[in-house]
Amino acid sequence: MKKIGILTSGGDAPGMNAAVRAAVRCGIEKGMEVYGIKRGYEGLLDGEIVNMEWHSVGDILQRGGTILRTARSTRFMEDRWVEHGARMLNAFGIEGIIVVGGDGSFRGGLDLSEKGISVMGVPGTIDNDLAYTDYTIGFDTAVNTILGLITNIRDTSSSHERSTIMEVMGRNCGDLALYSGLSGGADVILVPEVECDINEICRKVLQGQATGKAHSLIVKAEGFKMDSNEMARTLEEMTGREARAVVPGYIQRGGSPTEKDRRLATVTAAKAVELLYNDSSSKAIGVSRGELIEMDLADALKVEPVFRSDLYELTNVLGKGR
Ligand code: F6P
Repeated sequence: MKKIGILTSGGDAPGMNAAVRAAVRCGIEKGMEVYGIKRGYEGLLDGEIVNMEWHSVGDILQRGGTILRTARSTRFMEDRWVEHGARMLNAFGIEGIIVVGGDGSFRGGLDLSEKGISVMGVPGTIDNDLAYTDYTIGFDTAVNTILGLITNIRDTSSSHERSTIMEVMGRNCGDLALYSGLSGGADVILVPEVECDINEICRKVLQGQATGKAHSLIVKAEGFKMDSNEMARTLEEMTGREARAVVPGYIQRGGSPTEKDRRLATVTAAKAVELLYNDSSSKAIGVSRGELIEMDLADALKVEPVFRSDLYELTNVLGKGR
């Protein structure tokens, strides 16, 4: 392949810029022309496609967000618009593209690949909800950002002897809550993958109080069915202690990417370029047990998620009152 494109799509994730940088420079190194497609599939449909040069990706490695911008495209869910996207790429002579994004972005890529475009999926989302890969770009940074917030919350929460419910992102995936809760010393973790009713939550907090805990920390995934403010009110009634719900929201999606995210982005994007250079069919690139892997895009989207219940159980042991 001689001409390739790259776009970032869906929610931005720290490390997306590192992927763009690697793709552009590895492509140029191989003698290819690399195009940046702005605003995800929306920009593709509108023909916002620009030639990228070596220096156009200078000084972006350390920056969160994405210089290409991103969007969630509802148009691209319709076949006629996917067709339009393929025609747009044909008009620029682009035969293959790299899509940096999550589940929905990969599904858009799969539709596009059915129109004759080779699509390389590079996993970019803080949610860590692409099951074919152990980690997605942005997840590690977001977990560390949440950990910093938990550290701050612990100061004020213990001083006031309160219960705090920290609600983190992740859509239908509990990994952000699980990993930050485990490493942040949460008393209770609430994730969509595991049932837990309000009585059980109250019991756990009361057990902690009875054994002298100065405060309680509950890390709750946004996908867990209960409302955080309502939970705080019930906890106050049942435990006699003040409770607060804290929702950091988009703060956890920004910030300079960690080394782990920069490296994951760099090696997966470089691999994507190599595959396009070798005229490969559509693939998803990721990591498994520390090794770089590639899988047919369609197959990657069929992989069932495996929840790390071992980590969840460990948190339950470490967080219980005794
Ligand atoms: O997919 C990343 C994510 O931040 C999710 O965790 C969250 O549910 C969603 O995006 C928020 O989407 P938006 O940016 O469209 O509000």
